[in-house]
Amino acid sequence: MLAEDADPELVAEKLIHPQFPRSAAYDPVWQGRYALGPNPLWLTESLSGLLDLSPGMRVLDLGCGWATSAIFLAKEYGVDVVAVDQRMPPHLNWPVIVEAGVQSQVMPLQAEAHDLRFARGYFDAVVSIDAYHYFGTDELYAGYLQQFLAPGGVLAFVTLGLAEEIDGVVPEHLADAWEPDFHAFHSPEWWRAHLGRSGQLDVEHADLLPDGWKHCMRWHELGAQAAEPQWRGFCEGWVRRFGIDRGRTIGLPRVVARKPPA
Ligand SMILES: C[S@@+](CC[C@H](N)C(=O)[O-])C[C@H]1O[C@@H](n2cnc3c(N)ncnc32)[C@H](O)[C@@H]1O
Repeated sequence: MLAEDADPELVAEKLIHPQFPRSAAYDPVWQGRYALGPNPLWLTESLSGLLDLSPGMRVLDLGCGWATSAIFLAKEYGVDVVAVDQRMPPHLNWPVIVEAGVQSQVMPLQAEAHDLRFARGYFDAVVSIDAYHYFGTDELYAGYLQQFLAPGGVLAFVTLGLAEEIDGVVPEHLADAWEPDFHAFHSPEWWRAHLGRSGQLDVEHADLLPDGWKHCMRWHELGAQAAEPQWRGFCEGWVRRFGIDRGRTIGLPRVVARKPPA
């Protein structure tokens, strides 16, 4: 999402933020090149503070895209990650993993979120960055996914969503900035109830990422200035949307749910 020749001063202004100190150490152009939406390192860092990650844990990164979130988890917390995405063939994100030097910790895999072939109880954590709303709104999904968690393991995600439920009524101020797919956006309280209803996960945390819309806007402003043509319209659209909405409707729900210990 970020051109190689982006102005370094602009990059520093938009990208370095005290809320995300670990992310700030990663090459900004690299961060932009391999993002498919809001900055995946920021979102991963915002979740990891809520998790007890320790070296050697097994983590599933679901909807990993270019796997920068998986690389970040491996580098920062020493965990082993299986990075799964439906549409990203491993021959594309594997070189990114190798270049980052975490090839012994991150394994990319192309798979659909409803068709995972792991052993029951295999993972200590499932992390999902700006992807869970694509597959996780299904009533049966949390019950399906939790089988791959060890007892006491956690599901943690941050994804685009709503500050509060809108019950199908698009707010007037967003009428011409709304996309049909946004009907999969939900609020933290909706996610809390949705996961809780599975009866198999205890929701420990459900909030809106603090200042999430502002961070996203800053990130997309950078993309809109410097992105390659195919990304520019996408980024401009989000800058406009966040600018109109200013956090009233769209935000980033952040959710952590734990499988009860055996
Ligand atoms: C907005 S992108 C985010 C990618 C990456 N996490 C990031 O932040 O850059 C959403 C990702 O979810 C993946 N995805 C969507 N539906 C999926 C499904 N049913 N199973 C597995 N992956 C899925 C897409 O292929 C896409 O790479």
